[in-house]
Amino acid sequence: MNRICGSRFHDFIGQLEAALHGRDSAQDLSLSAIGESMRRLVSHDDWLPDAYARPHPEFYQQYLLHVDRDQRFSVVSFVWGPGQATPIHDHLVWGVIGVLRGSELVEAFDAHDTHDVHHVRSRGAPSRMNVGDVGFVSPTIGDIHRVSNAFDDRVSISIHAYGGDIGTIRRHVYTASGEPRKTFVSGYANADELKPG
Ligand code: FE2
Repeated sequence: MNRICGSRFHDFIGQLEAALHGRDSAQDLSLSAIGESMRRLVSHDDWLPDAYARPHPEFYQQYLLHVDRDQRFSVVSFVWGPGQATPIHDHLVWGVIGVLRGSELVEAFDAHDTHDVHHVRSRGAPSRMNVGDVGFVSPTIGDIHRVSNAFDDRVSISIHAYGGDIGTIRRHVYTASGEPRKTFVSGYANADELKPG
């Protein structure tokens, strides 16, 4: 299912499919190769339709752009209104993120489990991602972060590729104060257009 026309995005999906070809799992996947494809995709801001670049006055938006027919990967546009931010969250699959418009601040966390309580500790000051920058998450390299729009007066947009149908995966949000983590399913802002019929 592909919602975007145009050769840049089409080429990106082809490169993702090639990277995943013949692999049963993401264990031996080359995230750096996908990162290079992502870098090429976000180095031109002329392909994302306005429908998937629209901010919401209150909430950051996640629009599904493509999901693999076997749910091996999905591609999403994240649209940040001025000052909007995620909670601290994990992904449970690999993710490659490229900034298409504006800038984001990314703060990484480590989790420390004590019985059923998952404490998180910041890895340090947030890093800034500007247009063309690419970042990675995964359960092996570090999977927990908090992301915000670096601007409080304009929209920022990033493109995310994940190793699964990210809007349907049960994952977790955390608090910096160490309360038990909560399960969530992010869904998609364009869920209505995804319904059959
Ligand atoms: Fe994230």
